[in-house]
Amino acid sequence: MRVADLKIEDIGFGGKGVGREQGKAIFVPYTIEGELVSAEIVREKKQFAEAELVEVKASSPHRVAPECPYFGRCGGCAYQHIAYEHQLAIKWRQVRDVLQRIGKLKDIPLRPIIPSPKPYGYRNRITVHAQDGVIGFFRRDSHRLIDVERCPISCDEVNRELTDLRGRNPRDGHYTLRTSSSRRVFSQTNDEVADALRDLIVDLVPPNQDLLIDAYCGAGFFAKALLDKFERVVGIDWDKFAIAAAKEDATEKETYIAGDVADVEAAVSAANLGELRVGTRATTPNTTLIVDPPATGLSANVRHSILDLVPTTLIYVSCNPATLARDVKELHEKFTINSITPLDMFPQTAEIEVVVDLHA
Ligand SMILES: C[S@@+](CC[C@H](N)C(=O)[O-])C[C@H]1O[C@@H](n2cnc3c(N)ncnc32)[C@H](O)[C@@H]1O
Repeated sequence: MRVADLKIEDIGFGGKGVGREQGKAIFVPYTIEGELVSAEIVREKKQFAEAELVEVKASSPHRVAPECPYFGRCGGCAYQHIAYEHQLAIKWRQVRDVLQRIGKLKDIPLRPIIPSPKPYGYRNRITVHAQDGVIGFFRRDSHRLIDVERCPISCDEVNRELTDLRGRNPRDGHYTLRTSSSRRVFSQTNDEVADALRDLIVDLVPPNQDLLIDAYCGAGFFAKALLDKFERVVGIDWDKFAIAAAKEDATEKETYIAGDVADVEAAVSAANLGELRVGTRATTPNTTLIVDPPATGLSANVRHSILDLVPTTLIYVSCNPATLARDVKELHEKFTINSITPLDMFPQTAEIEVVVDLHA
């Protein structure tokens, strides 16, 4: 295939640089906006093309040496070639742009991104795969494995687990390696940024509130941090192991329901909330709803339930700015946006976490 000379104009979601040839977007991984590169076109589609970096002809002042010997081959990280401060700037800009483009928002109350205190060595768990003696992660854009001895974005304890696993010559399969602080059910992956996320949400909620509905609650990470501020707390998650973990140390004011958030009203009724029942009564005061859905965002059903329920405060925690923008566009009908705060839960990768604080 042919090689093209390109000026990289932007960094798209997923972390690839975007150059243009006669208006057509060409995605080149491991580049930075402003760079002049030559890249080999490896996939040509009608609307866009994919290319592999051949040479950086004029490099960005933000270019740095990656810490990981597997960077560029391993499918995990996208940004190790970019100075950490600039990774943060790229993520902040991407959140703003997607909220404008998909969310159709104009004056965006976007706060500075909260960085990770540790740009490397932050992951408290990883899942590695073993096959035919190779133990590691999938290669980029491939189902083949790359043998990994050490993962620099993971903490020392997880890397010790990896060394132990490799020493045991494990059978083919998937192995989740975790620190003792990381629970077996869903838990946030970066302890320090998880603390910052929890503190941010605690700060967003005023004291003396009535009812908190923590939807997609996992083991109750947010609900338990907010107990002091609410009379009643209801958590909903369809993972029954997470719900069992949430119930273990639950106080009288906490109710955890194993079920689908799509059925949130039924779940809330089932919790027998008495005078605090919300149903579709929009006048119920001081109802706060936290949603922390998976990357697919909120289903149409859940969006409609929220528009019917109209909680006084809605806090949307998202791990996918594109689905967040789609959802906020619809929710904006009945809510105003107080603040939007990006967090860098996953340095060196293209992932972005965002918290949106909305009020009815
Ligand atoms: C991003 S995690 C959030 C967990 C939790 N808020 C925390 O911080 O630990 C998403 C959670 O949503 C749950 N989940 C995904 N889809 C769901 C659905 N339709 N109904 C209920 N729970 C769902 C998963 O089991 C998972 O625990």
